[in-house]
Order: sequence, then C-alpha cells, then structure tokens
Amino acid sequence: MSKFAGREHRKEGEPMATGGFLEKQTVEKLAELLRLEDFSEVYAEADRVRRENVGDRVQIRAILEFSNHCRRQCRYCGLNRNNTGLERYRIQPAQMVETARQAWEAGYRTIVLQSGEDGYYTAQMLGEVVKEIKKTGMAVTLSCGELPVEDYAYLRACGADRYLLKHETADTQLYSSLHPCGTLENRVSCLREIKRLGYETGSGFMIGLPGQTEETIARDLLLLQELNCDMAGIGPFVPHPDTPLRDHPHGSTELTKRAVALARLLLPKANLPATTSLGVLDQGEKNDIFSCGANVIMRKVTPSSYKKLYEIYPAALGETDICSERKELEAQIRALGKIPY
Ligand code: 5AD
Repeated sequence: MSKFAGREHRKEGEPMATGGFLEKQTVEKLAELLRLEDFSEVYAEADRVRRENVGDRVQIRAILEFSNHCRRQCRYCGLNRNNTGLERYRIQPAQMVETARQAWEAGYRTIVLQSGEDGYYTAQMLGEVVKEIKKTGMAVTLSCGELPVEDYAYLRACGADRYLLKHETADTQLYSSLHPCGTLENRVSCLREIKRLGYETGSGFMIGLPGQTEETIARDLLLLQELNCDMAGIGPFVPHPDTPLRDHPHGSTELTKRAVALARLLLPKANLPATTSLGVLDQGEKNDIFSCGANVIMRKVTPSSYKKLYEIYPAALGETDICSERKELEAQIRALGKIPY
C-alpha cells in the first residue's frame, strides 16, 4: 500500500519530519493524490482503513450552539463581530444543562458545547455546566475558541473530555489574511496545550479558501498528523452574504471528500465527521462521505429560535426536535449500511 501518502515514511507515533526533503516530498505526494483524475482507488483504501480501525459504526453527536456572540472578525464567518445585522443570543447555563439532558434522553452519549469567542462565559460558569452534564455520563466536547491555558486546564479538571479548535488553514499568510484577530502560531500552540492536557483533540480546516492550492491542503493534512489529532473536521467553505468573502465561490465537495479520505489514511484511528457544511452542499450526490473515510456526524440540538441565529454560513434549518431528528438520522445511517451509535 506504499503508494498512499505518508504511510511509508513514518511509524505510528513517530514525530513528523519538519522541513527538508521528506516533508517536501510528502506535501508533493499528497498534492499529487488530491489532483488525481480518478480518485476511486484512494477512496476504496480510505474506506478499508476506516472499517479496519473504527468499524462500521457512525457516531452521532449532539451539538448545542450556546452563544453567537464573538469577539473575532474571521472574514469567512457570519458570526464575526463586524456583522452588526445579526441578532445575538446567549443561552443560560441552566438551559444548557436541560438541553443536554434532553439529548441524553434521545440517545445521545456525546454533546458538543459550541459558541463564538464570548467572554461572558467564564471558565467557572462553563465548568459548572460541564460538571452537571457529566453527571449523566455523557462525554462533553467544548468548542469555544482560543482560551487562556489556565482555562483549558480548569475545564479539563471539571471533566471536559474533548476540545474542538480547527486550525482553519495551515498557510501562515492565508491564516493572517482571514483572521485579523489571531495568528496560526497561536492557534497551533492552543492545540498543543489542549493535547498536552489530555483532551481528545480536534482540529480541521476549510476547503475552497481564497488562494488555497492542493499544496495548501496537503500542509493542512500534515498538520493534523503532526498534532496527532484525535478528530478532524474538514468542510467546504460556504459564502455568507454578510461577510467580506460573500462573493468567493463555495469549496468543492469532491475536493473535501478527497481530503477526508487522505486524512483517514494519515490518521487511521481518528474520528472524522461529515461536516455540516458538506451536508449543506452535498445533497444526493453519489459517493456518500461515510464511504470516503468519515465516521461521525453531528446534529444540532440548539433550540429552534437560537439555531437560526447561529449562522456561520447560510443553511436551510427546520425546527429542532431532538428525538425525532435523531431517529430520522439513525434510519438514514442504516440505509447506508452503517450502524448508528
Ligand atoms: N463556510 C464553511 N465553514 C465555515 N466555518 C466558519 N465559517 C464558515 C463558512 N463560511 C467553520 C470553521 C469553524 C467552524 C465552526 O465552522 O471551520 O471552525
């Protein structure tokens, strides 16, 4: 299987070679694979590696979007603070815990608590929410952006199991041009801290950003591997009309699936979600994402009135019904020959 990227060079757990010939070769190799005319052999290999390492279960995870306030100005995101047309909301801790209970009753065993970067919620407040939800036995994932290291440590001590913080793009210049409020270096250092604290660590990136090439995506994939990510969300960019990138075309679903397949080969045991943005664009196409290496899907449990305001990118959203939506998704997963979990 040596023709597939990266696997011939490193044993599991060995550090990534940085710089130099090896890395260059690997970036080129991955870029070459991404550009293949016929990718079917790589998809088949990713599907085999997925089955061998994580089996046929598709994990269904609840996501509660508890605040759309954000201090950042990310140029692709509808929640960026310059979007003054957006009505902002905050869900209070008691309602967060109550929603998590409803998700538990509907069969969810993991909940992702996600928000913009909102200083209203102190680590203490979030810590109490985590402790309450942990009483159900659910795994708790946090996704609240860049925090001081002490807060990551405190929340971990409160029982948070996982943290999601996508690196968005591994190209330093592109990162800076898209994020007036941050640097790639800082993002990566947060991810290393998160990993060091023992969180199951999730990163990820977007496909279709301005100026991105196959080589950029290759570096994104290698960064996931270097960080030894436990999870990676790879999704197509979807333009939002109230952002500076409103006129930039959406990312390719095919290229997204190729990147997911290569992520599966580079990180055989990782949890790889079918991202929501892929679901927005990729309806009824052949080659479903769970046959390209993905093994996780998230469902919003955010109450309807708030869900519509958590508009990172435009999407058609129905009313939230935690129980029936989960049942529906389970049926869809079974129809694909997989086991909902
Ligand atoms: N299109 C697709 N994905 C986006 N995200 C943010 N804005 C967009 C967009 N316009 C993704 C980022 C972020 C996650 C919460 O949503 O990767 O980490």
